[in-house]
Amino acid sequence: MRTVRVNAASKSYDVLIGKNAVTVLGEQAKKVCPGALKALVVSETNVAPFYLDVVKEQLEGAGFEVTDYVFEAGEQNKNINEIAGMWNRMAEAGFTRTDFVVGLGGGVTTDMAGFAASTFLRGIKVIQLPTSLLAMVDASVGGKTGIDIPKGKNQVGAFWQPSLVLEDTAFLKTLPDEVFTEGMGEVTKHAFIMDLKLLEKLEEAAGDIRSDEDLLEEIVYMNVSDKASVVGEDETDNGRRQTLNYGHTVGHVIERDSGFTKPHGICVAKGMGIVMDACVRAGTLAEDDAERMKDLLKLYKLPTEDDITPEAIVEGAMNDKKKRGGTLSVILVNKIGQAEIKKMTAEEFLKFLSV
Ligand SMILES: NC(=O)c1ccc[n+]([C@@H]2O[C@H](COP(=O)([O-])OP(=O)(O)OC[C@H]3O[C@@H](n4cnc5c(N)ncnc54)[C@H](O)[C@@H]3O)[C@@H](O)[C@H]2O)c1
Ligand SMILES: [Zn+2]
Repeated sequence: MRTVRVNAASKSYDVLIGKNAVTVLGEQAKKVCPGALKALVVSETNVAPFYLDVVKEQLEGAGFEVTDYVFEAGEQNKNINEIAGMWNRMAEAGFTRTDFVVGLGGGVTTDMAGFAASTFLRGIKVIQLPTSLLAMVDASVGGKTGIDIPKGKNQVGAFWQPSLVLEDTAFLKTLPDEVFTEGMGEVTKHAFIMDLKLLEKLEEAAGDIRSDEDLLEEIVYMNVSDKASVVGEDETDNGRRQTLNYGHTVGHVIERDSGFTKPHGICVAKGMGIVMDACVRAGTLAEDDAERMKDLLKLYKLPTEDDITPEAIVEGAMNDKKKRGGTLSVILVNKIGQAEIKKMTAEEFLKFLSV
């Protein structure tokens, strides 16, 4: 088992990564939630049939009284009704401030479990058990929690760091191939913005990190280390954490324009490809480096382009929450492994994106 320590400004905690990591859940929960009597396991209909029993057994074996809340899988259920269901379940079971929530699922689940924990009794502890690649390398680490509202994704939420993140890489065996591929959008992003070693590992693996369990564990670990180092410097997204938005300013617009039918990770990959092309045209990124990054995306079955127009990107981006005042913070990679934050007005961004 590997450990990454996250030292966020508001809280420090461990991310434990490994095959069968779930077997230490009971003892770890006792350690990080001293005095707790009750646990609410939040999960969803695709994940619960595989893993809810083993998680409950672990917690009950450690002496906790366990309740569960299983919602219908899918982003469309990342809403306030489900959160209210979680609050009510905890209230009915007599939860107090020392009890805790466990999020068992992909990013939808870990975001919601974290948000329910952040608000119940003004904040109780949460342990995250991510089950998708995206949730392991991204969503479950760093304390961003929340829900969607009709006007937009993740518009309501809180920064609420977990007390522990337990990443059982064996749980990835049941993840559908296309969902795994979506997660690779964030994995390749980490490689491009900050981790040349990861990039080389992914190149060596030649498009398959699933069949070798040790390699998969190592790659998850490298990604969690990357995310942890960024969150450790900038918990609340005012500085370096913004570099994690590489490909996202453009990707979000593509995602929204598709009515959220195109998956997030796929849109991020397209966004990264579009920004790479623009950097090459601007003469700030070497063509060979752009090709190398795009080859990696293709190797992992990710797209690098989209037919969206520069005008549509800029219009969409100006409506996005990432804008600050009249300018956008656009993340650029001009050297592989290094990201920079560039402030651009709408006019500058349009010029940057236009051929
Ligand atoms: N908090 C953050 O910092 C952060 C970062 C990135 C993304 N997110 C959020 O994460 C969400 C996307 O995460 P996601 O892609 O994991 O979505 P998800 O939770 O919907 O999971 C994707 C799909 O995989 C299934 N699944 C998950 N684990 C499985 C497993 N082990 N076996 C079988 N099926 C499994 C789910 O049921 C679902 O159908 C979005 O809501 C996004 O806003 C949050
Ligand atoms: Zn993302």
